[in-house]
Amino acid sequence: MEETKKRMLSGIKPTGKLTLGNYIGAIKQFITYQDEYEMYIFIADLHSLTLPIDPKELRENTKDLISVYLACGLDPEKVVLFKQSDVSEHAELGYVMTCNSNMGELSRMTQYKDKSSKLGSNESIPTGLYIYPTLMAADILLYDADYVPVGVDQKQHVELTRDLAIRFNSRYSDTFKVPTPITAKTGAKIASLANPEKKMSKSESDKGTIYLLDDLNINRKKIMSAVTDSDNTICYDPINKPGISNLLTIMSSLTNRSVEEIANEYNGQGYGTFKKAVADVVINELEILQNKVNEIKKSGMIEKVLEDGANKARYLARKKLSKVYRKIGIN
Ligand code: TYM
Repeated sequence: MEETKKRMLSGIKPTGKLTLGNYIGAIKQFITYQDEYEMYIFIADLHSLTLPIDPKELRENTKDLISVYLACGLDPEKVVLFKQSDVSEHAELGYVMTCNSNMGELSRMTQYKDKSSKLGSNESIPTGLYIYPTLMAADILLYDADYVPVGVDQKQHVELTRDLAIRFNSRYSDTFKVPTPITAKTGAKIASLANPEKKMSKSESDKGTIYLLDDLNINRKKIMSAVTDSDNTICYDPINKPGISNLLTIMSSLTNRSVEEIANEYNGQGYGTFKKAVADVVINELEILQNKVNEIKKSGMIEKVLEDGANKARYLARKKLSKVYRKIGIN
């Protein structure tokens, strides 16, 4: 008898352009797990509404994201690939989760604090930004996911999801599986090339962010100008040498070699040579990826993949939401 696979679920929001952080911290992990787990990977488009976004940009980013999922090797025969907004149960359970959360726990979310503090003093904080983790909890709990692979920055939201699941289960009897976050051993927090103390992100500096689908020469220049220290020793020391350690991490994640092995190979050769080697590895991988993305966009397969994925996802989501409604006395 075939053993039932554990279920894994994750998503990326199509806000801004996809970064090397998303690729290493999330997408590359998804690929390695797709044979071992029953996977649900989605485009978190409702999450993109938490801060104002141009509709045209959102549409383009959504198309880019599904193309990147496919180009990286997520196989729609093995993985359920879908768009969050195609399965309205996410928003419905999101509301129920909001009603089961409290303002104290949502105010403690680091991402909420960071993002709201970046808004100008005259700007009001969008409510969506505040309740966003309850929608994320719904995304996960609808599918009884055992594991949720994410970068370090999203771990706290998965931990909140666990708390909400446990609370709901004890209030209304066993309903949700309590999920476990998984982060990559190397690359769960890729830093900005311009400010290696900070996470590489769409909202951090442009100069420090490698965008997967950007011009390759621009990306090469960004790596060659990555901020490093002045002692010219190549070794992995994230506290004292965050810039070099970040480049080592990037290279290690893309080549499956350990940071120590790479540091030993390049030590003594100078930062310029090392940066060029990192740039070669990154650019080579991005060139292959970009070519595949272009093919996929032309192939006309995207709509079908998303439609099939939404049908499969909806099946589980509906079952879970009716159970929830029954428990809370709504139907
Ligand atoms: P998002 O779209 O900001 O990021 C998608 C994934 O990429 C990871 N990531 C990074 N990993 C390493 N280094 C970085 N610099 C870096 N930047 C981003 C993130 O940790 C994440 O895993 N709320 C989520 C999307 C989401 C979700 C979910 C994820 C919605 N519902 C349910 C898992 C399960 C988000 O905004 O991720």
